[in-house]
Amino acid sequence: MKGRIGLRITSSILFLFSFILFLSGCILQRRSMHTLERYYDTMPLPETHPLALEKKRRKIQAENPTPSSGNKNYNHGGNQRILSTSSRQRTSQDLIWEQRQQQLEMELRREKERYRTVGYVQLVDDFTSVCSAVLTFNDLDRVGSKASRILIYPESWDMQLEISESQQKEAQKTLAIQEKTLNNKRKQKNTKKKNKKKNKKQEEATKPSHEEATNPLDPPPLIHETSAADKSPQYHTARRLLHLARIKHSAILLPMPDDTVTPLVLLNMTDYKRLLYLRHPAVIMKNMDEMLLHSPAAAVSAPRDRGGGLSSNFLMVAPEDGELEYVMKKGGVITKDFGGLGKVVERIYAATAMILPRWPYEIFTSDFFDSPVGNGGNRASTWLPSKVLNEVYYIFFDGGKKTKNGEWEKVPQPWTLKSLEEDVAPRCQSAQEMGDGEERWDCTARNVWMTLYDGYRQRRMEVCGLDLEA
Ligand SMILES: *[C@@H]1O[C@H](CO)[C@@H](O)[C@H](O)[C@H]1NC(C)=O
Repeated sequence: MKGRIGLRITSSILFLFSFILFLSGCILQRRSMHTLERYYDTMPLPETHPLALEKKRRKIQAENPTPSSGNKNYNHGGNQRILSTSSRQRTSQDLIWEQRQQQLEMELRREKERYRTVGYVQLVDDFTSVCSAVLTFNDLDRVGSKASRILIYPESWDMQLEISESQQKEAQKTLAIQEKTLNNKRKQKNTKKKNKKKNKKQEEATKPSHEEATNPLDPPPLIHETSAADKSPQYHTARRLLHLARIKHSAILLPMPDDTVTPLVLLNMTDYKRLLYLRHPAVIMKNMDEMLLHSPAAAVSAPRDRGGGLSSNFLMVAPEDGELEYVMKKGGVITKDFGGLGKVVERIYAATAMILPRWPYEIFTSDFFDSPVGNGGNRASTWLPSKVLNEVYYIFFDGGKKTKNGEWEKVPQPWTLKSLEEDVAPRCQSAQEMGDGEERWDCTARNVWMTLYDGYRQRRMEVCGLDLEA
């Protein structure tokens, strides 16, 4: 009897204590949960963190209780209630998300349209200059321009490059895929080179099979014989490059009657708000989209040239109905000589043109030959060769230099030089130190000039191919 009572007492004591233990565990756990929650409330979390998402959901729920929340009471059973509110929550969130998506798409479309209405124009009037035009488009890609690119050439060339829009898209897609695989291959090769040199032979063995596939950069086949092809061996190269400009650089090809292939024709291209004619050969160092999108609506804008007139190389135009007719009436003989453009524009727009500062918009390679101090005037005082590569927008290869007597002397263009070692680069200038009278040499102009020339030569080979180099 006594033993049983003892057993009962001990078991009830045991039960009591384990119950107390259980209770205190519960309380402790709740407390720590609370502190955890408070901690996460004050902690900044990444948006994708599940807790952050949950917090956001709760906040939204608290801020705009869905109309259905009043109906909750009609639901039976807790589980069902939770399910129905969360699915409603999701649909309302989906709606918000969809709206945002639509807004974003609309903005993108609007932006695309804005960029479509401004553009860079290249004009070519002989086969050999097509490469220079393509190079400027390549530069535009490099500086991240999103504006249109337009390439105008004479109709009489009879290039037969018409392809449908879907064909163009298809070719562009194929090209993108090819470039991607090529990049991947290059990466693989590089890593493999580091690991083993033996694999190299295998890589080369697999190479040709890829090249056999149709090349999206091949122009469409000729439909009929053309006399232009017989006249010039460069016809096919020019044709290939025009097609390349369209596929690789999304250029709009625009054949025009021969006598209208002049920068002034831009005035009549009223599908566009602003167009920028850039003479080649040149290198574009900076994106000028912003200028095209936001500059004042002057009919023409240009920097001044050395003589105080308007530049023949850099002309921004706001096309307008009837403007070209006006220019022709005013006796602007539309010269085929692009270099003479400045004079025509100067005569007609002297009072109304918007003048852009020459620096940093336009410089010439011949500028590097002039001593920064010795020049008599129209150069900005802040011009320094060392600033060119970082600050300038456009550099024209004018293929010459001024001699000491003020005469113009020809300097070979980058692609006609056999090597940069030829002694045509600007010389280092002696810079006398004020203090000790010691002579030092400043070679900045020479080095920058060499960089530009070397870069142009290389890009020309890379972009246009080797068949030009012969
Ligand atoms: C300007 O363009 C319009 C239509 O686009 C055309 O009718 C007109 O002949 C063009 N003017 C000149 C001078 O080429």
